[in-house]
Amino acid sequence: MTETPQAERLAGKSVIVAGAATGIGAASARRLAAEGARVVVGDIDLPGAEAVAEAIIGEGGQAVPVRVDIADEASVRALVETAVDAYGGLDGAHVNAGAMQLLPGDTDVVDMDLAVWDGIMAVNLRGHMLVARHVVPRLLAGGGGALVHTSSDAAFVGEPTRPAYAATKAGINALVRHVASRWGREGVRANAIAPGLVLTDRVRESASEELKRKLLRGTPSPRLGEPADIAAMTAVLLSDAASWVNGQVLSVDGGTVMR
Ligand SMILES: NC(=O)c1ccc[n+]([C@@H]2O[C@H](COP(=O)([O-])OP(=O)(O)OC[C@H]3O[C@@H](n4cnc5c(N)ncnc54)[C@H](O)[C@@H]3O)[C@@H](O)[C@H]2O)c1
Repeated sequence: MTETPQAERLAGKSVIVAGAATGIGAASARRLAAEGARVVVGDIDLPGAEAVAEAIIGEGGQAVPVRVDIADEASVRALVETAVDAYGGLDGAHVNAGAMQLLPGDTDVVDMDLAVWDGIMAVNLRGHMLVARHVVPRLLAGGGGALVHTSSDAAFVGEPTRPAYAATKAGINALVRHVASRWGREGVRANAIAPGLVLTDRVRESASEELKRKLLRGTPSPRLGEPADIAAMTAVLLSDAASWVNGQVLSVDGGTVMR
């Protein structure tokens, strides 16, 4: 399906993946490690993070699991300190966590419980901002580095449901443009990946066959997405191959949303 990891592309780099226990983040952590990065596997689900770190080590890579709640600033600060202590510095981060468990309540702005709106904002937007806030100074201390945030095609299409989710993803797109504009000259790059539907285990279980068929009909490419597709783009964006890519939002979606 996707191409083979390039073993040395991220050699010597230390990176954080925040939201790495399952789905896209787990695939990203494994891919970055397979390309030579030393990875801090951060997630609110510590057993999940430990399992991913164990798998990476079993594959010959380097990884440290950390429990982090990205909505909590002290927890984010500790995550970044762990990376610096473990690997002597920080070269990049994939900020991927999303409060996916709240999505069923993200109905519409008239109906939804405000606690759902606030909960999604706290993780998907404030949490992504908090990781950038604590990672950027460490990147600057090392002479530069890269942030990749997981956004979504939901930021670009009108939908009758998921208003909080879509608003946070549009906010992430603004956040990377800010970070790129503010610190680009000092060697910091910030980009976002906007996936289309990605067949994680959770999506495979929850999305109906009818929905998958409908989405495939709207996708120019002949298949739906896999976590490995997003992981592969993350590896490129965190690598020096993307050293002139800054402040961008890249849809990785088989061409579903052409902007
Ligand atoms: N799967 C898709 O179709 C799809 C499409 C577009 C965008 N995305 C985005 O990709 C990202 C990953 O989604 P996924 O589909 O792999 O879902 P997932 O539920 O498998 O992964 C989300 C991860 O984030 C972690 N997390 C949740 N809240 C956290 C917090 N407060 N602090 C730290 N970690 C936390 C979860 O424990 C989980 O491991 C999300 O940002 C999501 O919005 C997914």
